[in-house]
Formats: sequence, structure tokens, C-alpha cells
Amino acid sequence: MSFAQEEIKNRVREAADIVQVIGESVQLKKAGTRFTGLCPFHTEKTPSFSVNPQGQFFHCFGCGESGDVFSFMMKYHHLTFPEALKDLAQRYQIDLPERKMSKTDRKRMHEREQLYLVNHEAAKLYQSCLQSEAHGKEARAYLTRRGVNQEFIKKYGLGYVPSPESGGWKYITSRLQGKKLSITSIEQAGLAVKKERGGYYDRFRDRVLFPIFDMSGREIAFGGRILGEGKPKYMNSPESMIFEKNRILFGLYQHREAIRKSRQAIVVEGNFDLLLLAVHGIDNVVAPLGTALSRSHVKSLRGYCDEVVLLFDGDSAGFKAARRSIPFFLSEQVEARVALLPDGHDPDTLVREKGALGIRELIKDALPLPEFVFSALVREHGLTLSGKNKIMQELSSLVREATDPNQRELMAAHFSEQLGVAPARLLSGTPELVEPKPVPEPVPGIDRGRVPSEGIFFIAKLPRKQRQLLDFIVLYPEYLEDLLLGGLADLDCAPPLLTVIDCLKELKTDGVVMPEQLLSVLPENLERQYFADLLMRGGEDDTDTTQGRGVCDELLVWLKSVALQRKSADLQEQLIAAGQAGDLPLQLELIKKKQAIVKKN
Ligand code: UTP
Ligand code: MN
Repeated sequence: MSFAQEEIKNRVREAADIVQVIGESVQLKKAGTRFTGLCPFHTEKTPSFSVNPQGQFFHCFGCGESGDVFSFMMKYHHLTFPEALKDLAQRYQIDLPERKMSKTDRKRMHEREQLYLVNHEAAKLYQSCLQSEAHGKEARAYLTRRGVNQEFIKKYGLGYVPSPESGGWKYITSRLQGKKLSITSIEQAGLAVKKERGGYYDRFRDRVLFPIFDMSGREIAFGGRILGEGKPKYMNSPESMIFEKNRILFGLYQHREAIRKSRQAIVVEGNFDLLLLAVHGIDNVVAPLGTALSRSHVKSLRGYCDEVVLLFDGDSAGFKAARRSIPFFLSEQVEARVALLPDGHDPDTLVREKGALGIRELIKDALPLPEFVFSALVREHGLTLSGKNKIMQELSSLVREATDPNQRELMAAHFSEQLGVAPARLLSGTPELVEPKPVPEPVPGIDRGRVPSEGIFFIAKLPRKQRQLLDFIVLYPEYLEDLLLGGLADLDCAPPLLTVIDCLKELKTDGVVMPEQLLSVLPENLERQYFADLLMRGGEDDTDTTQGRGVCDELLVWLKSVALQRKSADLQEQLIAAGQAGDLPLQLELIKKKQAIVKKN
């Protein structure tokens, strides 16, 4: 990055209010001079995500994610650096000098911008068409019939495009071209379709149009429903440079605030389901655009809520889609429940018949996703011997989808009890079905010949909890003693953590430890840059003891459970030995001890 670019980056960073920017996506609470909240990058129940306004950085003690306002924007909103920079510069009114981009970059950026423009202008045209005397009457009547009034037409930016008899073959294309938008962009946006023998025609005709927004509120696509009967019932914009179907949820932009507030997202299948729930005051709803819920969908919901409720009718394609989405919920560690609609209903018809209360009742009774699958499997296969075998097969692959070992064991224990089999049978399975954990790749472009660079891989390779411990004791050395007594002293630590503990112990003898002092005693072969960064970002204030206490307590709980696990493993070894020696009284005694530990855990 050139000096000028660095300069502009700093100016934007200074102008941007990191608490405000992050606060739009994460609920933050003031704690001393920092702000804390639930980390949007991993699932947690107690806050370990902290935003430091003085230092203009965020750090999560849980997953180790950290960075400045740019990295937050990039990671949270899936932006590239230039996009994050541009977004923030615009928001905080800082002029960006024309960036020196490569020709292809510039072209791509221009094309994307044209696509946004085409969709934006089209949305306006569709909206005024719906309101127009000449064309919109029938569509307005259709919407009224379906219970969507003007307030909601406005709120969701609904539009209409006339039928071919009323000029619908070229309605939007000609008007957009009239606004000097190129036919190439209009075609790329999917609004015009090329004819085989030359020329273009409109993709959407005689349809109510639902604009689809990205998370910055830009129109990126449309869903179009035919008035009344006809095929295809819905038509959506094709994918484009700015529209990836399986990343976008209809309604997430409009409903993000409601979802964040209620910490819950309701997933429905249809656009009208979403609309009608909103009309009845349930507005923490999203709908995928006719595709199955994807991993990206689950990921983007995770940023806003703790729980997802799938609201589907029992025998629809949506039900199968729900089943297919299970692995994503399990591996992304998002709680999901399933509420089944009564036969013959979809959310639209149910909410019109029973009101919001009827929907809320249904959601209240929604089953946790694994539970739901279990009962569906039992219904499907029955509990005969062969039925059980089939259920086992499906369940064991389900159990293995969970990435968190605790979750996995819990599920195995739970289901095995219901089926009357040993938990091990659900846990074991063909290992190749489990995705291997990616091994961190060496960062390219750094000099591997030098010792400190080697070290960088080392910290990256630390198990997650050990990395959390390491970050924590560096930033909050005052808790080291507590942690050592609470089991850290007996933990089988990896070398970097061990070294840091030793260094901190050494410093401790001189009285209170200032985190910065650590750098002066760290041995050369530890990645000093890592600690320098950490301290620079985190050592700015020491008044915020409330958060430190909370994280420390959480770590203590973890240390305790590790110690118990180790004890239990020791006992297991002794048990095997006692078994081999045929020492029955000893075996019994060991079993009792083991049971006591299991209870404590
Ligand atoms: P539904 O048929 O359940 O939609 O399809 P709906 O909104 O409830 O429709 P009506 O108006 O009440 O009859 C669910 C979703 O699947 C996509 C649309 O996004 C729709 O909202 N879909 C459906 C298509 O993409 N194409 C289709 O032909 C049908
Ligand atoms: Mn419907």
C-alpha cells in the first residue's frame, strides 16, 4: 500500500465510529471504556466480544477474531477491502481519490455499479407502474385481495410490470435505455433477454415484482409473481455479478433490526408468506428465493440471531429442504427449530385465519431440529428392528455433522437412549464422511528463513482454547494466578503458551505486571509481532475489569472440565489394568470414582 493509500485509510478509520459501525450489527453494551457483546463470528452465550473505541479495534476473547473497522466490515458483510473503504468513506463523507486500479478491476467495478444502477432504476419504474392509472389497477387489486395494503407495498418497494398486450415486451428495457443505461448492463442484470434472431425482450411481464436488497440496501434482483394462476408462478432474476441466490435471503435487509432485537429469525418459503407475517406484525422473517437454505444463508443469519425457526408445511419440498439444511445448522452451531404448519396451510393462509397469535403458538411448540428429524424418521421407518437400523444410519451421519464434540456427544447420548443402543454406535461411522479440519496454511510471502516468522504459524496452530488463554493472560495478567490455581498449572500447554506463562510468572516477582513489560522478556523465538499487535490493540485501558472477570470465570470453568476429563481418562486406564488383573473390588471402586466425576462434569 502506498503512502497516500495508507493516509486515506487512516483518515477513514479515524472518521469512522467503530462502535456505531459494529453496533449496527452487534448489540453492544458499555463496560468501562469498552463495549461488549455477543461475538458475531462464533456462537456464544456470554459476551466475549469487545470493541475498544480508543484503540478503534475489536477483539473476541472467545474465537480470537480481531481487527479494525475495515476488517469488521469485510468479514461481517463479506466485502473486499476497497469496498469496505468505499462504503465507510461514503458514510463518513471522506472523498476518496481515484484509486489506481488495474484496467480489469476498473472495468469490473464499473460493470457492478451499472448493475446496481439498472436494478435501482428498474425498481423505481416498476413501483410507479404499480401506482399508475394506466397499468397498475389490476395488480393493486390483486395485492389488496391478498391482504397487502399500500403501507406494505411502499415498505417493500413492490412494483408491477404490464402484460405484453400493454407494451410489456419492452416496458422496462426501453425505459432503462431511455435513461442511457446500456443494453449490456440491462441484460447482465437479467432484466432483458436476448432473442435468437437479434434484439431483446423483457424478462418480467405482467408480474408483481418484489425487489431483493443486499445488506447495504441496494436492489440487486427481483422476484416476480404472476397475477393469479399461470406458469411459472414465480420468476426471479438470474444470478449476476451482484446477485448470488444462495447468499441472499429475501427480507433480511428490511427485517434485520427486528431479527436482531428478537434474537430469532423465522424462515418461511414464500415471498407472500413473509409479507403477510409482516402485515400481521411478525417481522423477524426471511425467505430464501425458492432455493434450499444454504450454508451461506445460515452463516448470514448467525450474525443477527441466536435461533432460527423453520416454518414449513409438513409434506412440501420445504420439509426436505429443512432436512438438507441440518448439517449447516449443526456445523455453524446455530440453534434451529422446526414448526410444522397444519395440513393445507402455509404461513400466509394461517396468519390470515388465526392471526399473529396462531403463528406464535406454533413457534412456541417448534421442535429442535434434531428432535424433529428424529420423530420424522420414526414416523417414516417405524421402530421395528429394520426400522431402527435405518434410523441409526441416518442419525449417525447427523451426529457426525456436529462440529462441536460436546454437541456431538450430547446428541449421541440423547438419541441412543431413545433407540436403546450404545452411544458409541452413533458416534462411530465412516470417518471419510466427516470433513477434515483444514490445517492452517503458512502465510505466503513471508520469509520462512527467519525464526520469528516460523513462530507465526505456531500461534495460529494453538488449539482454540489455548489461544484464548494466551490472549487473555497477556491482556489481563492480573488473572494469571487465579487461572494457574484453577487448573492452568496442570494443563498440557503447547510451547508458546507455556513460554508466555513462564515469562509472566517471572515478571510477577517484580510486582504488578504491565502487559508491555512482557515484550521485554519474551524470548526471540516467539512471534513478537503477534504480542506487539495484541498489546497495542488491547492494552490501552486497564479500567475495564468487569469483562476480564467474566472471561476469566469462563476459562476457569473450561479448565475444570479439562481436569475432570483427564481424571476420568486416568481412571479408565486403571480400570482396564484392574480388569486385566482380575481385581474385582478395585474395579468397583474405580467405577464409583468415575461415576462421581461424570456427575460433577
Ligand atoms: P410458494 O409457491 O410457496 O410461494 O413458493 P408463495 O409466495 O407462497 O406463493 P403464493 O402466491 O402464496 O401462491 C415459495 C417460493 O419459491 C419460489 C418463490 O421465491 C416463492 O416465494 N418459487 C416458487 C419460484 O422461484 N418459482 C416458482 O415457480 C415457484
Ligand atoms: Mn403461499
